[in-house]
Amino acid sequence: MTDRRSIIVTGCSSGIGAWCARALASDGWRVFATVRRVEDLGPLESDGIEAFLMDYTKPDTISSLVEQVLARTGGRLDALFNNGAYGQAGAVEDLPVEALRLQLETNVIGWHDLTRQVIPAMRAQGHGRIVQCSSILGIVPYRWRGAYNASKFALEGLTLTMRMELAGSGIEVSLIEPGPITSRFTANAVAYVERFIDIKGSVHAKEYERQMRRLKGESGPARGKLGPDAVYAALKRALTERKPKPHYIVTQPAKQGAILKKLLPAALFYRIIGRLG
Ligand SMILES: NC(=O)c1ccc[n+]([C@@H]2O[C@H](COP(=O)([O-])OP(=O)(O)OC[C@H]3O[C@@H](n4cnc5c(N)ncnc54)[C@H](OP(=O)(O)O)[C@@H]3O)[C@@H](O)[C@H]2O)c1
Repeated sequence: MTDRRSIIVTGCSSGIGAWCARALASDGWRVFATVRRVEDLGPLESDGIEAFLMDYTKPDTISSLVEQVLARTGGRLDALFNNGAYGQAGAVEDLPVEALRLQLETNVIGWHDLTRQVIPAMRAQGHGRIVQCSSILGIVPYRWRGAYNASKFALEGLTLTMRMELAGSGIEVSLIEPGPITSRFTANAVAYVERFIDIKGSVHAKEYERQMRRLKGESGPARGKLGPDAVYAALKRALTERKPKPHYIVTQPAKQGAILKKLLPAALFYRIIGRLG
């Protein structure tokens, strides 16, 4: 039992994290999964997963997670999959500072905190894998997604820098860039729009009606949407390939976006992208 490879997976109450935690466990990993609510612990535990409470906006829960996991493994950890996050929708001019701050606190600062706290164990054992669930929106910006774009672009910058700095340490670092994936992501985004965006007072009020219909799933499924198993396939590669890639792009729309950004002149690219979303 103790020689199973070990991994921390965050954001396992739903979507990609819930799927990947279970898939890893059935592939023989010892999985330490995190959620934010007590009632989300049970379903993971009944699937043989060791579950913990951790909220990226609460630094003491991050330290406590790392302490408990390392106590259980004798100070070792093979991998970390940073995944738990949310998307703050809203035009940039409508974003209150506290909305942007919370978005960055959750999707960037918390991830950085957890990552820094596991690196010493990985350095000491001479190996480790750090996989970050970014997004195609960390490569290609999208209208009404400025806060989320900013968080994922920041994540890309930190992660790619860290990848170069850790070269030769035995710790491999990769980003997964999903396009549309079935999960609670859009449903969860609704609450953050309602909490932070003054829809009626915005010059974009009409656009928000359309966006809210989309977030509530009333405008049909997104083109090219895949299940969380597609992200798991990329995660498995990032965790097991001898030379893991910096980027694993998942879904056809994400691949198209990344290729067009490389091929098209910037002004043309942003004109086309500006009609989407
Ligand atoms: N679905 C997509 O189309 C898509 C596309 C590209 C990238 N992604 C990325 O995929 C990852 C997983 O998202 P998902 O699609 O699986 O969405 P999801 O179903 O909404 O799951 C998000 C998970 O993150 C957790 N989370 C939210 N805020 C957190 C915080 N402050 N601290 C710790 N955990 C927190 C949520 O917990 P609660 O249940 O407690 O809120 C939930 O477990 C995210 O990094 C997202 O940016 C998703």
